[in-house]
Amino acid sequence: MKTAIAFFLLGISAAAAAPSSYPEWAYGVPTPENEATAPRDDGTKYTLPGAAGPFTRGQAGGANRTPPADWYPNDHPPMSKIIAAGDPGRGITACAGCHYPNGKGRPQNANIAGLNADYLARQLREMKSGLRHSAEPRKKNAQQMVDFAHAMTEAEITEAAGYYAALPPTVPIKVVQTATVPKMRSQEGMWLPHESGAREPIGMRVIETPADVDREQLRDPHAGFIAYVPRGAPAKGKRLAAKLGCAGCHGEDLKGADAPGIAGRSPSYLARQLYDFQQGDRHGEMAAAMQPVVENLTAADIVNLAAYTASLSVK
Ligand code: HEC
Ligand code: HEC
Repeated sequence: MKTAIAFFLLGISAAAAAPSSYPEWAYGVPTPENEATAPRDDGTKYTLPGAAGPFTRGQAGGANRTPPADWYPNDHPPMSKIIAAGDPGRGITACAGCHYPNGKGRPQNANIAGLNADYLARQLREMKSGLRHSAEPRKKNAQQMVDFAHAMTEAEITEAAGYYAALPPTVPIKVVQTATVPKMRSQEGMWLPHESGAREPIGMRVIETPADVDREQLRDPHAGFIAYVPRGAPAKGKRLAAKLGCAGCHGEDLKGADAPGIAGRSPSYLARQLYDFQQGDRHGEMAAAMQPVVENLTAADIVNLAAYTASLSVK
């Protein structure tokens, strides 16, 4: 009898949990072995076209809590201290280190340029108050993000949200529909082609990778990404988006309205959010609007929606 009840309860919790299986491709949790092969600062100075510099890898990434390099200072208004340098005393890393000075970000964090300022500020407040965190406890940078939000003052939250909201969204993502993809390894949470050069079936995944690995590793704010998606996924995603009425809240062509813009943004980031909503790990003030939307999404639905939104132009 006891066992029967236990199974019964298990059944309930499984039914209440997400119909989608964990989208490993969207989280890209790095392995320690892969981290050990990340390129190191050997003193070499690098340049990028028309950029400030030269900078070493350490300077580009803001090693030892130094402000990360600003390759294109004319791209953006002056940055506040918290964005450009963080505040090591309070454990805050420069926003520009991960989201870049122009808000382009990387698939493992978030592209935040041009999103509504109130939306961005609300996210920071909700991370601070515990209403938003990642469904993946091994995703260290998401936990770091929560820690930064915790340490930020209300004035810093408003200022940083305003800074990124005022920037033009400039994330070039090229969507490629394909049956096979280069075999990948995750480094710093980003998928990079495996050195073997092997290919493998894409399966039901989106694989987002830098269009130019060298430039992305130097944190080039102008470098783009490729999103490999299963053949037919954007068209299926488009049909599902119409059925679920995404545009009713996210605006025409999903460029943003009451709800934030999701067109042309990182498919890995967006898929993580859909899964996080589904798991109940994003349950802030406005997250309730997303609950009925994500409730019945399957793993394939998340792939199709992410492939579709990535294929839309940002502006
Ligand atoms: C160590 C890297 C890192 C740094 C530094 C960082 N972030 Fe983030 N940020 C992240 C990650 C990772 C996410 C996405 C988490 C996820 O995938 O769930 C994120 C998400 C966000 C979001 C949510 C975006 C959205 O569309 O909802 C905002 C807003 C944000 N960051 C603002 C900031 C600000 C402001 C700073 C500077 C105080 C900052 N971040 C510094 C890693 C970072
Ligand atoms: C009833 C209104 C509504 C509908 C319909 C809706 N959304 Fe949302 N969505 C929202 C709101 C509001 C937010 C912001 C939630 C918050 O502040 O936490 C949001 C947030 C999101 C986010 C997170 C964005 C970020 O930057 O982190 C994604 C991804 C998303 N929606 C995708 C979709 C997709 C895909 C559809 C259609 C399948 C959809 N939404 C339909 C209201 C809606």
